[in-house]
Amino acid sequence: MAIQDKIKELMDMRVKARLGGGEKRIESQHQKGKFTARERIDMLLDEGSFEEFDMFVSHRTVDFGLDKQTYLSDGVVTGYGTIDGRLVYVFSQDFTIFGGSLSEMYAQKICKVMDKAMKVGAPVIGINDSGGARIQEGVKSLGGYADIFQRNILASGVIPQISAIFGPCAGGAVYSPALTDFTIMSKGTSYMFVTGPKVVKTVTGEVVTDEELGGAMVHGSKSGVSHFVADDEQEGILLIRKLLSYMPQNNLEDPPLAVCDDPIDRLEDSLNEIIPESANKPYDVKDIIHAIADYHEFLEVQRHFAPNMITGFARFNGIPVGIVANQPSYLAGVLDINSSRKAARFVRFCDAFNIPIVTLVDVPGFLPGTAQEYGGIILHGAKLLFAYGEATVPKITIILRKAYGGAYDVMGSKHLRGDINYAWPTAEIAVMGPRGAIEVLHHKEISEIMDDQERIKFINDKEEQYRNKFATPYVAAKYGYIDDVIEPRNTRFRIIRALQSLSTKKDVNPPKKHSNIPL
Ligand code: HXC
Repeated sequence: MAIQDKIKELMDMRVKARLGGGEKRIESQHQKGKFTARERIDMLLDEGSFEEFDMFVSHRTVDFGLDKQTYLSDGVVTGYGTIDGRLVYVFSQDFTIFGGSLSEMYAQKICKVMDKAMKVGAPVIGINDSGGARIQEGVKSLGGYADIFQRNILASGVIPQISAIFGPCAGGAVYSPALTDFTIMSKGTSYMFVTGPKVVKTVTGEVVTDEELGGAMVHGSKSGVSHFVADDEQEGILLIRKLLSYMPQNNLEDPPLAVCDDPIDRLEDSLNEIIPESANKPYDVKDIIHAIADYHEFLEVQRHFAPNMITGFARFNGIPVGIVANQPSYLAGVLDINSSRKAARFVRFCDAFNIPIVTLVDVPGFLPGTAQEYGGIILHGAKLLFAYGEATVPKITIILRKAYGGAYDVMGSKHLRGDINYAWPTAEIAVMGPRGAIEVLHHKEISEIMDDQERIKFINDKEEQYRNKFATPYVAAKYGYIDDVIEPRNTRFRIIRALQSLSTKKDVNPPKKHSNIPL
């Protein structure tokens, strides 16, 4: 064959590979409101940066007549490219080929990009849209999944791993995304479940739709499996690009500094007024986060899940940080099972990837009751305690208002190696809130006062005394548990100074195989 013919043959094969399962199936994908595997990669990566691997791979199964049905690329598009000029590895499942189902060779393609990403220290992004294990391949497909899981596990904490779910994701296939750092789902077109509605009906009799069982909002708000719920795939892809901008390429690098023209000493006068006079009145802690962060920007993680705890990324003078904040406007910002799990995982992600943690505290304590105790709040709360205590990244904590009881300890306290701990003058740091404390300390006297009005006056007086004596930042400051009491409007500047002073921080944990976090 002449060289020109050989080149033409190559070009023809490329065209064929790029057509995936054919025009009809591409059309059907579009009709469902979904993009194809290659369109998604084009949207995700910097223009023209994609380098594809293994375009000519196809399966080697002969059962079920599959020897007569082969497709170039075999149902997954893999390779590398850049996002904002930074290297990333990517795989994107192609639903137009065997419903994106995973075969032995397909799994090998994914493993190849994961191995390469680990060697060079670059993030891996997986776009999932698949009918799960390729039925015709049997155990080879199951083995392929497990090969991917093993790589997810070894890569955890070494390189960032992000999963987008833009279609079905069922059976054991859900476990690869679950092993990654962040999962993004698109509304209406994606779902995740271990067993689908048909099996659910057979086993339990429960009748449920795909959406009700494992749709984007279900995992975004109820289970916490999904960290982001995007309105559509385009928004999901923009979220991935944004998310990566806060992360280093791997655990040996620092997160990337951004150029910042937002003045570091920008005073936010509104913050001096933001805490209500009454300790029981809520306010939105996100107003504080927006006020102090660079350009008022905050990328919230798990927005719909456990909203009594806020987690997300922001920058201070261009330095990426993870923010953890109690949210007084939802359940008074109480610590419960879900909020503890949410914050613990986020703190661990930040620590794994050298992202400093800024904690904003206004927490009345742990949520009491049988539901929480039976659900294991002791273990889940311990996760958060563990995560903070284990973290060696710079940790800056600001107590805005309440820091009562165990929750004071947990939320990035000095005692858990908090580096710089500030309080606003409105801080109330004590073993418990005034009402609870008075009822414990004076219950006998209270029960002996027969006159209602007298009793109320007694309680109010005692509460006032308690509040003045204990519910202030100055007792903690007296013992050095608080490094300074700061003016609220100056918070941005104080955080930036603190971050700058901690930029060379070194801290280590004792050598061990691994810790035994209370799972
Ligand atoms: C082989 C598959 C397939 C699979 C779909 N297809 N899933 N081929 N193995 N697992 C094929 C279909 O035959 C069809 O081929 C094409 O993909 C598109 O599928 P449709 O059913 O036409 O599409 P749709 O109506 O959109 O439904 C999509 C679906 C459904 C919901 C994903 O196909 C489905 O329920 N598939 C089976 C899901 C499943 O049970 N997977 C196994 C899970 S267990 P043609 O040629 O007609 O286009 C598992 C174990 C993993 O994954 C364990 C890891 C530890």
